[in-house]
Amino acid sequence: MVGPAQVGVLAACVVLFVPMGMAGWHLSRNKMLFFSGALFITLAVGVHLTPYFPSLSQLLLSSLSSSPPHHPLHLPRPSTCLPFLHRLSWLPSSPTASSPALWQWAPSAPTLSCGFQRLSRLDASDLLNGSWILVAGDSQARLFVLALLRLLLDPAAMDPVEADLFRRHSDYHIAVADHGIKLDFVWAPFEPNLTAIFRDLRTGPRYPDVLVLGSGLWHMLHVTNSSEYGESLVAVKKAAASLVSPVSPEFGLDGILASSVQPPHMFWLGLPTLVTSMLNTEEKRERMNRTVWEAYDRGVGESKILKRSGGPFLLLNIGLLSRGCGRRCTADGMHYDGVVYEAALHIMLNALLIESQQRI
Ligand SMILES: *[C@@H]1O[C@H](CO)[C@@H](O)[C@H](O)[C@H]1NC(C)=O
Ligand SMILES: *[C@@H]1O[C@H](CO)[C@@H](O)[C@H](O)[C@H]1NC(C)=O
Ligand SMILES: *[C@@H]1O[C@H](CO)[C@@H](O)[C@H](O)[C@H]1NC(C)=O
Ligand SMILES: *[C@@H]1O[C@H](CO)[C@@H](O)[C@H](O)[C@H]1NC(C)=O
Repeated sequence: MVGPAQVGVLAACVVLFVPMGMAGWHLSRNKMLFFSGALFITLAVGVHLTPYFPSLSQLLLSSLSSSPPHHPLHLPRPSTCLPFLHRLSWLPSSPTASSPALWQWAPSAPTLSCGFQRLSRLDASDLLNGSWILVAGDSQARLFVLALLRLLLDPAAMDPVEADLFRRHSDYHIAVADHGIKLDFVWAPFEPNLTAIFRDLRTGPRYPDVLVLGSGLWHMLHVTNSSEYGESLVAVKKAAASLVSPVSPEFGLDGILASSVQPPHMFWLGLPTLVTSMLNTEEKRERMNRTVWEAYDRGVGESKILKRSGGPFLLLNIGLLSRGCGRRCTADGMHYDGVVYEAALHIMLNALLIESQQRI
């Protein structure tokens, strides 16, 4: 398998030796510098544009790669693809407003060349085989778990599972036995509840492989103070960072690192777009308006909990996805139809494909 590093070495050799070869043809030093510079720029531009041109990058990679890359899970996906994961388009399945919406990745250059795709049940099971997934937060997190179970389980198995999952304000655990997948949902409506989870994880025998967290609606309704929300997220971030870089690594008898504990892949479920007029209590309509939502959203940004500001969590932008799906996708202005969380789930799975290739 030829990776990006080898391609880079090859490119460097071309930049170095082609002009040297030309020097053999008695080109002046200035001409040689010119050719060298032009080659360098062409290669650099080529390398940076490759992800945008599916056919070119596929051609490049398939001609360089000797392993069978045709299985969807093994297509190469560079981390430069991460910013395009949320480029979805939403389509009403029919012109009537009440019909359910559909989504797909916008059929444009970066999403196509990045090879984003909905994973089938089989591919998702393959990807998550043997892993422990921990989801914690409020009702949005619960709806995300539902989307994950709908993907992994047989439809016939879903009814009792749904009844169990939606027992109000309770935790939920399931082991998808034939795939070795362990899934936990922890009811954690407030941010200190999330911080507490990290405390438990640090002392436990194993970290989850995937960690999905999200909260804010309860704080918005019951506290309504965005700067306090931001502060509590800073605490979550610190707790998460302690997992990423354990303070005191344990040494075994041989003096080598005894535990090979990997930090989890971490995702943050953003706040859903609120349709204030549709909220179902007077108190909610009063406190959960657009101004407050925007202040809370800024609170997330300023806490630097997200990867884009140097934090550990990749954002699953429920705000954007729910806005894309629109009012037709919500009955209470806060909880959205399954498609919104399904889209977030497939964004996460594609991000995991990218991240797991980076780690190997
Ligand atoms: C999961 O992985 C185990 C080995 O780690 C393998 O035996 C099993 O067949 C895999 N299951 C699926 C569904 O891929
Ligand atoms: C969550 O945190 C709140 C406030 O810190 C606390 O009162 C509550 O008991 C916690 N709930 C759970 C489920 O841990
Ligand atoms: C909001 O929280 C901040 C920080 O905890 C505090 O300083 C401020 O007084 C609070 N504002 C209100 C209106 O309670
Ligand atoms: C939004 O809600 C907050 C908190 O209840 C309130 O202070 C503010 O006036 C409201 N803003 C609008 C535009 O309704």
